[in-house]
Amino acid sequence: MAFLIHKAMKKRTQIIILVLLLIFGLIQFIRPQRNQQTNLSRYDILHKTDTEAIVENSLHHACYDCHSNNTVYPWYASIAPVSWMISKHVKHGKKHLNFSEWILYPKEKQLHKLDEIVEVLQENDMPPAYYTMLHREARLDETSKQHLLNWARELKSKISASVTQQE
Ligand code: HEC
Repeated sequence: MAFLIHKAMKKRTQIIILVLLLIFGLIQFIRPQRNQQTNLSRYDILHKTDTEAIVENSLHHACYDCHSNNTVYPWYASIAPVSWMISKHVKHGKKHLNFSEWILYPKEKQLHKLDEIVEVLQENDMPPAYYTMLHREARLDETSKQHLLNWARELKSKISASVTQQE
């Protein structure tokens, strides 16, 4: 008797695993659109600027995957449901801040965003911890962070100066 129950349970486990595999296979067909613009945006915050290499690299490696029109996808980004989660984060990140469309932002918004950038860097809120766990190259060491902070502050005073000049 115990033997028969054991056999029936084994069968049930096999069916459950099979169904799960089937679902996993089927969801692979739902592919979110990729965030990949081929040409570099001429509205990019780094477009035609002579920004320090260390700042440019930090922005590209630590921020652009979620805050630009060009995400560099790791291999596992093709696998659902990870692909869906990434797509959601990128959309969400871009809504708050999109470096690829920076020049289209009104000056007031640029100033506000630079304040926010300084804040998230000081608080170590960005890049998010779950992201740096998977992307070692996105970790900001103290030097890179200081250069980013100086860059954001200098850009802010430049923009502020240009706003007062216009008035
Ligand atoms: C893995 C994706 C990801 C990366 C990488 C990332 N961010 Fe974000 N960022 C988000 C998301 C999602 C939001 C919006 C929700 C939130 O505030 O958590 C956001 C919000 C922000 C905001 C707005 C905060 C606010 O108060 O509204 C700023 C500024 C920001 N990020 C700057 C950066 C900077 C600078 C970097 C690089 C050093 C960076 N982020 C890297 C996903 C990311």
